[in-house]
Amino acid sequence: MISWDEFDADENSAGKTPAAPAGVAQAPARAAAPSAPAMAPAAPVAVAPATAAATLAGNTGPVAHPAAVIAGALNQLRAEEALDAEDVKARAAAALTKLDVAPGLEELEMGAARVQVDDKRMINCRADLNQLVPFKYEWAWQKYLDGCANHWMPQEVNMTKDVSMWKSGDGQLSDDERRIVMRSLGFFSTADSLVANNLVLAIYRLITNPECRQYILRQSFEEAIHTHAYQYCIESLGLDGGEVFNMYREVQSVARKAAWGLKYTQSLGDPTFTTGTTETDQELLRNLIAFYCVLEGIFFYCGFTQILSMGRRNKMTGVAEQFQYILRDESMHVNFGIDVINQIKIENPHLWTAAFQQEAIQMILEGTQLEIEYARDTMPRGVLGMNAAMMEEYLQFIANRRLAQLGLPEQFPGVKNPFPWMSEIMDLRKEKNFFETRVTEYQTGGALSW
Ligand SMILES: [Fe+2]
Ligand SMILES: [Fe+2]
Repeated sequence: MISWDEFDADENSAGKTPAAPAGVAQAPARAAAPSAPAMAPAAPVAVAPATAAATLAGNTGPVAHPAAVIAGALNQLRAEEALDAEDVKARAAAALTKLDVAPGLEELEMGAARVQVDDKRMINCRADLNQLVPFKYEWAWQKYLDGCANHWMPQEVNMTKDVSMWKSGDGQLSDDERRIVMRSLGFFSTADSLVANNLVLAIYRLITNPECRQYILRQSFEEAIHTHAYQYCIESLGLDGGEVFNMYREVQSVARKAAWGLKYTQSLGDPTFTTGTTETDQELLRNLIAFYCVLEGIFFYCGFTQILSMGRRNKMTGVAEQFQYILRDESMHVNFGIDVINQIKIENPHLWTAAFQQEAIQMILEGTQLEIEYARDTMPRGVLGMNAAMMEEYLQFIANRRLAQLGLPEQFPGVKNPFPWMSEIMDLRKEKNFFETRVTEYQTGGALSW
């Protein structure tokens, strides 16, 4: 984590660096050839041969000394740039006189009435989206605050014991346990990128409420931290990054989950996609159900349970602690997504048709089945006090909960939670964390010193 000292050092070193020789740095692009990439970095010496060659190419008289040719060319360039500098100032001034306050991604209407709470809507809102207050959806703002209070970084977790356990060949870890670690990192290392890309490239612009967008921005950063955490585990354990990051394309049980999620982001990822009709609004709902309820709400649960079970048995406790922080974030992501979906339902009851409800149930069932397949692939035998059959029941229990949260009928009557300790872990807030290595509540504000 960057400290304020390092920040100062960065600032100071930037300040002490001699001003970039703008004239010289830009010279090669013009002096060499028009096709030279404008961004190509080049030192002054690199300019010289090209400039000299260009100058000499049409010179039929006595050959001038190369140093004189270079000096002349550079002087000419500096003179041109001085003129350009005047031009650009004039162009900037002219552009500002013509600045139109109306256009923008979301229109800015001068003199329009201030946004009222009742103007706000989850989707297809016409009110100004840059005005965070007055709040309408307090729950979204509260989740943003809670997410920030839970801030953590992967490097804060001590991985020393994991490294020695992973590298020791003395049977501390069985082959089945190693398989679970590899598969978990394989699935999650790319799954969190899929989630982050869906947030930023698909749903952010379609959720037309600033307090929800504020949380989505926080969630996006948390997804980046999660990908960072997996990379940190991969690096600490000395794993083959290529193998791990390609599992979502090369290992069937991982690839099927990724492919299932990706198909729900394709149409929304098209920059021309907009909501506003029943069909397109339902398409957005499908995406929210796929990503929040299935990807984050079901697909993460077999891997989380396996790794946390490992930690409970005092194995790979650093990896397990990373996963514990991630799980805490993820349970908030799922709850946020479900609140968003339910709010959209309240505001747009015509979208929640019987046929659409059937479709939503089917999506949850498909996701549950894919996660059961993943459990069977990752646990061909009993391991860590669990097996694929127990995981199947647990996933059905989770699926029932997702359905109930959406107001849909449970599909697996009578199933019980075979891993009640998972709920205890997720319910932790201010207590010491599960492995008692540190307090899980993280308050960044207290860490600053000026
Ligand atoms: Fe995540
Ligand atoms: Fe997430």
